[in-house]
Amino acid sequence: MTGLLNVTVHTSAEEERVSAVAEIIRGLTADQKTLSPKFLYHEEGSGLFDEITRLEEYYPTRIERSLLDGFGAEIVREVRPHEIVELGPGNSAKSGTLIGPALEAGVLKRYIPFDISESAVREGAQALFDAYPGLAEIAAVVGDFERHLSAIPQPQGTRLIAFLGSTIGNLHPEERSRFLREVRALMPRSEDALLLGADLIKDTRVIEAAYNDARGVTALFNLNSLKAVNELLDVDIDTSLFRHCAVFDDEHSRIEMHLEATADVAFTLPGSRDTVRVRAGETIWTESSYKFTKDGFAETLHDAGFGNVRWITDPEDMFGLVLARP
Ligand code: SAH
Ligand code: TRP
Repeated sequence: MTGLLNVTVHTSAEEERVSAVAEIIRGLTADQKTLSPKFLYHEEGSGLFDEITRLEEYYPTRIERSLLDGFGAEIVREVRPHEIVELGPGNSAKSGTLIGPALEAGVLKRYIPFDISESAVREGAQALFDAYPGLAEIAAVVGDFERHLSAIPQPQGTRLIAFLGSTIGNLHPEERSRFLREVRALMPRSEDALLLGADLIKDTRVIEAAYNDARGVTALFNLNSLKAVNELLDVDIDTSLFRHCAVFDDEHSRIEMHLEATADVAFTLPGSRDTVRVRAGETIWTESSYKFTKDGFAETLHDAGFGNVRWITDPEDMFGLVLARP
């Protein structure tokens, strides 16, 4: 049996493409070159991330999943959500730990996944309908959670918003605060709740190994974002001239992912005479993954308008789920 799937897409319009191109050019012509992390999930990127989640070195998925298996039902029985909004679910591999118990409690009416990857969302929706015949409706939104959160449908009852996988850690502090305030505005009822997954500060070697796996899957994932550049800008950057590097920065409490040029690279933007040059040894900064302390993160949540904050962590405090109420 298949429930009702409705997908609204906010990324395919021409103006979106134009703004993505402008954003890429701005990033690649800055002193420290940058590329938005959302391009990591371009085409094969979502599948490569899926592979990352199964790597021995990548502890976040394993620990978060065991926390969800252990406490998901309890959280759902407490919140009793009529709808679950999930930001950045990818293929919704973890969502059953919340959707299953919410259906069993007889309260859940719809699931609203919001992700930049349409293929991941569609794959996830089908798998959920197959696994949960009682799930009547999925109202998916394909968009950028830094721009299109207002496209989420109006609430139809108590809402649980989930943002898992420590994707919150991929936002810089100012972006993070703005994002959390926007999420808070999507929660009009005092019973509404936000469930966040957050990676905690630990031994640097453990963190660096998670972003530098022995098989090189993370490297392929990072390099994949250059393919998005090639496609969107209609250029032909040779990805074999870049190598993946991931180093923990203690001062900012974040691991930084870069693509370092191993030779001088230049490409000319079509329709213009501007040439982008990346010198050998220069890097393109593709993503950061901030690691948190429980107190520091609770304070960020308080500042964003959340009053009631509760942590659920593994015994070693490697990774945490945090349940926050308005
Ligand atoms: N929640 C899943 C996936 C985490 S990976 C897990 O815990 O395993 C991050 C997810 O966020 C990906 O599915 C990616 O497509 C999505 N994403 C990244 N940047 C985004 C953006 N700017 N807007 C919307 N979704 C984004
Ligand atoms: N949200 C994931 C994280 O911060 C994303 C991620 C995992 C990632 N591995 C990566 C991003 C490697 C860039 C490169 O853990």
